[in-house]
Amino acid sequence: MKRTEITELYSNTAELGGKTVTVCGWVRTIRDSKALGFIELNDGSCFKGVQIVFEADRISNFTEVTKLNVGSAIVVTGELVLTPQAKQPFEIHADKIEAEGLSTPDYPLQKKRHSLEYLRTIAHLRPRTNTFSAAFRVRSAAAFAIHKFFNENGFIYVHTPLITGSDCEGAGEMFNVTTLDADNPPRKEDGTIDYSQDFFQKHTSLTVSGQLEAECMAMAFGKVYTFGPTFRAEKSYTQRHAAEFWMIEPEIAFADLQDDMRLAEAMMKYVIQYVMDTCPDDIAFFNQFIDKGLVERLNNVVHSDFACVTYTEAVDILKKNNDQFEYKVDWGTDLQTEHEKYLTEQVFGKPVFVTDYPKEIKAFYMRLNDDGKTVAAVDLLVPGIGEIIGGSQREERMEVLQQRMKDFKLNEDNYWWYLDLRRYGGTKHAGYGLGFERLVMYLTGIANIRDVLPFPRTTGTAEF
Ligand code: 4AD
Repeated sequence: MKRTEITELYSNTAELGGKTVTVCGWVRTIRDSKALGFIELNDGSCFKGVQIVFEADRISNFTEVTKLNVGSAIVVTGELVLTPQAKQPFEIHADKIEAEGLSTPDYPLQKKRHSLEYLRTIAHLRPRTNTFSAAFRVRSAAAFAIHKFFNENGFIYVHTPLITGSDCEGAGEMFNVTTLDADNPPRKEDGTIDYSQDFFQKHTSLTVSGQLEAECMAMAFGKVYTFGPTFRAEKSYTQRHAAEFWMIEPEIAFADLQDDMRLAEAMMKYVIQYVMDTCPDDIAFFNQFIDKGLVERLNNVVHSDFACVTYTEAVDILKKNNDQFEYKVDWGTDLQTEHEKYLTEQVFGKPVFVTDYPKEIKAFYMRLNDDGKTVAAVDLLVPGIGEIIGGSQREERMEVLQQRMKDFKLNEDNYWWYLDLRRYGGTKHAGYGLGFERLVMYLTGIANIRDVLPFPRTTGTAEF
């Protein structure tokens, strides 16, 4: 059987018109009257489905087909009939319909509109709905665009480990990995856990970031990026935090914070344009049903420069409006989502880089500025989401880095290899992390991170 995907019917309509095609998919809707019936069939290859027309005097199993439940998997062979006057440009007049997998009448996805909350409880079936089919196609296109962007710009794609012995962000939000008996681990004389009997003979965790290892690779290849799963045991019940998410982390040698920001802006614009070009139906759907201003906003992002302010300037702006905020802003406090949204939506109306944060609220590896108070950090904030990228120029000076590690109470023994980079041909370098799910939220207007991850892991959720 030569199978034609529905997307091909749309891209190759003129050539396939009048020909016999075979399509495979899942029944979205089915209705019949007397000797004529209609099936709306989707195969996931594109946003649109195809209408199958079946007639009693043309297929041998007409009555059987009329009894198919929504959700059934079928294989249809028939003529592609062009219908230029109708809403859909063509339909398939079936000569043969085979049920490959029947569905039962209690199929949880019926024609009515289901809430996103309900659909989360059936994550195994929701990819068959319009919203999730579109979301995960956009997700796929965005992932491809990221690889394409870095590839075209001469970056090497590197794989960093998922199990690590260091805490990159120093925030203690790590999931432990151990083969020790969790209820009764062996202990040393001082009562602490004896990891010498553990699989790796040391304390290890799932990675919160591949950055430190990416830095090693950048010191050999110049320009690298990672794109992999990342884990954080943060108990944030927010709409933009997941325990398992994907992060893209480029790292560039002989580069400073300005180079880093230029790269981030170019990448964001490239990926947005690519997704708008390759998923127009999906984006149009989101624009119509999820976020009315989506297309206009994405177009604006591609065609205008991002704004840029220092943290200190941002705090000055926010302080003037402190009465509007639940969390009052003062120099030294971290920016909350409400502040990020205010800056991007009320003040700038576009993506904005915020740079040079107080050293106390950022990670140990960020380069200390000459003022001794701030570090060369950058966050990219976007309307509707807030922080989507976090990055920095890295501290390349050995003594300054060692002092920062002491300030953060980090054990140098766990980072000897990281310090070696400063010993053997260290260079100025910078990088950033883009939260992939936040990017997909931005591209689709979907408000909750649980709805852009096929099988989300958040506190209390690991059902599927
Ligand atoms: O700002 P973060 O913590 O930066 C780092 O991890 C750096 N090591 C990156 C680097 O410089 N190479 O995280 C980067 C981005 C955030 O801006 C956010 O988009 C995303 O990762 N992120 C999360 N996304 C979903 N759920 C979470 N729990 C996230 N935590 C961070």
